[in-house]
Amino acid sequence: MEQTYVMIKPDGVQRNLVGDVIGRFEKKGYKLVAIKLLLLTEEQAKEHYREHVGKPFFPGLLGYITSGPVVAMVWAGKDVVSAARKMMGKTNPLEAEPGTIRGDYGLDIGRNVIHGADSVESAQREIAIYFKEDESTSYEKTI
Ligand code: CMP
Repeated sequence: MEQTYVMIKPDGVQRNLVGDVIGRFEKKGYKLVAIKLLLLTEEQAKEHYREHVGKPFFPGLLGYITSGPVVAMVWAGKDVVSAARKMMGKTNPLEAEPGTIRGDYGLDIGRNVIHGADSVESAQREIAIYFKEDESTSYEKTI
């Protein structure tokens, strides 16, 4: 089953949006297979956002993403990578449609509540930054 990496960013955690975000994924029909609350190390953040190293916004992104706890999650289900991106809305909350997470709750391109992997390959790479293999739960025996 396809998996994706989703991360509620420090602004989402501080604004008590964790339950709402998790609820949206649950109600849509996806399965939560791994979750943890953590403060990113600079090393994790640089690895996660390595494609943005050198861009003008990178220092701000690094400082912000390590500024408070995030909720790291792995969600599983049919076409979950692209569906999660649709549920989140465009990166810039001003361009994100109402009804999407960023469209409903975001104000700023940096503090945009949530991150989701942009491809199956990115999802695998990002999951490996935050989770060991034995930290994911299989539902095969329960459903
Ligand atoms: P995310 O999906 O986590 O991936 C990279 C992040 O960089 C993006 O969301 C934004 O929150 C952040 N970012 C900050 N400034 C910019 C910018 N000017 N353009 C694109 N992304 C930005």
